[in-house]
Amino acid sequence: MTYDVAAIRALFPSLAEGSDGSSPAAFFDGPGGSQTPSPVADAVHATLVSAISNRGDVTASERRAEGVVRDARQAVADLLGADPRGVVFGRSATALTYDFARALAKTWAPGDEIVVTRLDHDSNIRPWVQAAEAVGAVVRWADFEADTGEMHSDAVTSLLSERTRLVATTGASNLIGTKPPVCKIARAVHEVGALHWVDGVHATAHASVDLDSLGVDFWTCSPYKFLGPHIGVLAASPELLETVRIDKLLPSSDAVPERFEFGTLPYELLAGVTAAVDVLASLDPAATGSRRERILASFEALEEHEHRLLDRLESGLRSLPGVRVHSNARKRTPTLLFTVDRRPAQDVRRALAERGVNAPASHFYAIEASRHLGLGDEGGVRVGLAPYTDMDDVERLLSALAEIVEEGRLRGEAGGRRRG
Ligand SMILES: Cc1ncc(COP(=O)(O)O)c(C=O)c1O
Repeated sequence: MTYDVAAIRALFPSLAEGSDGSSPAAFFDGPGGSQTPSPVADAVHATLVSAISNRGDVTASERRAEGVVRDARQAVADLLGADPRGVVFGRSATALTYDFARALAKTWAPGDEIVVTRLDHDSNIRPWVQAAEAVGAVVRWADFEADTGEMHSDAVTSLLSERTRLVATTGASNLIGTKPPVCKIARAVHEVGALHWVDGVHATAHASVDLDSLGVDFWTCSPYKFLGPHIGVLAASPELLETVRIDKLLPSSDAVPERFEFGTLPYELLAGVTAAVDVLASLDPAATGSRRERILASFEALEEHEHRLLDRLESGLRSLPGVRVHSNARKRTPTLLFTVDRRPAQDVRRALAERGVNAPASHFYAIEASRHLGLGDEGGVRVGLAPYTDMDDVERLLSALAEIVEEGRLRGEAGGRRRG
């Protein structure tokens, strides 16, 4: 197993030194959207300027579009261990979740129940809550432990009943990284005959996914979180998708998965998705075999790389006076949320940005989770690792933050108070 972070960084124009010798920012904002490697941008460009028409099987340019779509479905299937016939593309994970919530809710009756969690990004809460309200279904809320950040399976399974129709949980929290026991939850959900929808947007960027062994019904992800373009993906079994009726245009295809893809697909972005999956498959250059096998090996190498960085990052953050780390679950992604005592998170974020460190501050749309943690609507500063993060980035962040904390301490000694 090998991981050559310098070779990986060389794929990213945004990580190159400026022509004036200026260093690139240290990007810890990957959980909001990763930097883009050249092969992805090249694939988008090449597809746009190629001889390409609307999909069809008569002309070469029609067949090119057809091939781009087929390749992208296969690439996502390889990434997720899914069936390419069940890969749906949409504007974003949020848009897909809304579409499916409205469609699935047509089969719910007043008094039916759905379960959502306070750990989730709002895109896997509000569409279900609003769809439930529209048909008189009852919403049950599963909580995570604020002090440990853990989301135990019984927090969800204790809410299940014979009236439960759907359970929406996250694969990993984009706010504090917690990875709930998805497999265990899926089994319990199926025992009561309900469906399990998993938001895999944050999880997919950090560990290999195998939908078959997870046993979930629906898995969403967003390629722009894992080096690809801005588009959303839903994966499910084609047999399950056959049972979902959705409002559609009269002449548009009723076949799965096209039934769920409204309008013309963005071929150039789909080519970018395939290229992103190919880059992920090559993160371990020593990996051999099928693309799926190379993906599995590459994610193992990536996890090891990220864990090494995370160890240093986490011990560094936890040793700084006044810095509180809110990512505490045993199983989690390399995404840390922290706050600094008596400093608004936005101040810290700006001070980091002035030092060339990009680490945004917010609730990051996991607003229920932020409130549940006692961080209200302000949230905290989030630092996330990505395939291109190296130890220099981590050291830059830690020394910048040490400076910021020290400045605050001096201001405090001089009688300075929290602003606002
Ligand atoms: C966990 C999680 N779910 C959902 C989303 C929304 O994804 P999209 O922008 O594709 O709608 C995000 C985006 O930040 C996310 O982190």
